[in-house]
Amino acid sequence: MDRAKRILITEPIMQAVMDKLSARFDVTVGRRGYYNKKENLLNELRDYDAVLCMLSNPLDREVIESAGRLRIIANNAVGYNNIDVDAAREAGIFVANTPDVLTDATADGTFALLLAVARRIPEAERALRRGEFDGWNPTGFLGMELRGKTLGIIGMGRIGTGVARRALAFGMKIAYHNRSRADDALEKELGAAYIDSVPELCRQSDIISLHCPLTAGTKHLINGEILTLMKKTAILINASRGPVVDEAALAAALKSGTIAGAGLDVYEHEPEVHPDLPALENCVLLPHITSATHETREAMGHLAADAIIGILGGKAPESIANLL
Ligand code: DGY
Repeated sequence: MDRAKRILITEPIMQAVMDKLSARFDVTVGRRGYYNKKENLLNELRDYDAVLCMLSNPLDREVIESAGRLRIIANNAVGYNNIDVDAAREAGIFVANTPDVLTDATADGTFALLLAVARRIPEAERALRRGEFDGWNPTGFLGMELRGKTLGIIGMGRIGTGVARRALAFGMKIAYHNRSRADDALEKELGAAYIDSVPELCRQSDIISLHCPLTAGTKHLINGEILTLMKKTAILINASRGPVVDEAALAAALKSGTIAGAGLDVYEHEPEVHPDLPALENCVLLPHITSATHETREAMGHLAADAIIGILGGKAPESIANLL
């Protein structure tokens, strides 16, 4: 127990994780969303030795440089585009994230979203709730059959691979693009074709699923021009980060029939959603939940908390696997 060490958990997380840190340190838990505002981090982060933060908290260079006492930033997410990792390194602050533990939940969630779009599940359910179910309809709510279709994966990391494995069980063919080509064994297991160019992958695929990190190079990777290359029957799934897709261009493409459908779990300006999207029946909109299972959210919290306990407890950084 080290009550002299002050930890900020920027908003309520799984109770067991808050209890674990509270048993060891002086813990403050912020109000939900309060630290999404940069000025609140700027004013307050300097008082803490460690922060367990959310992907919605902007820890940019200015915030990091204001936090002279901070030893570690543990992000309660695998994606860490909200943190200026270079600035943290320069300031001698460790950064941790939550890889591996969310792979299955996120791949399951992505596949649920993909099926929801392909089989028009939310749209059909909404119609039933409106009282429009008039019996089995031979031509009602026809969707896309997955068997034999090509799933194009952009970003063949852990989650992209998990989605590909699930797609194989549905009889889909896998094509992918990644910064570096997957090893032979994985390509063989998935029967996956590597396609060197994103435009070409988009041209060939029936469904595109995005699993790349958000970087300067992937911002608006899917833009108006790329959308016009996709098949008219194509579906776009995004469970990575919102800004990978130009949301206004996507809304226009969905309206004009340039592509057939989309499933989004993430948005360019979260929590805002482009105003045209909610009115469109050909897209399924989730509130960033693909990793949201009891088991996974608890495991993510423990992984982040354990990195804090390790660093503040004097463990060798090399022994903490989830430091970036
Ligand atoms: C992440 O961890 O990066 C996801 O977006 C949320 O689980």
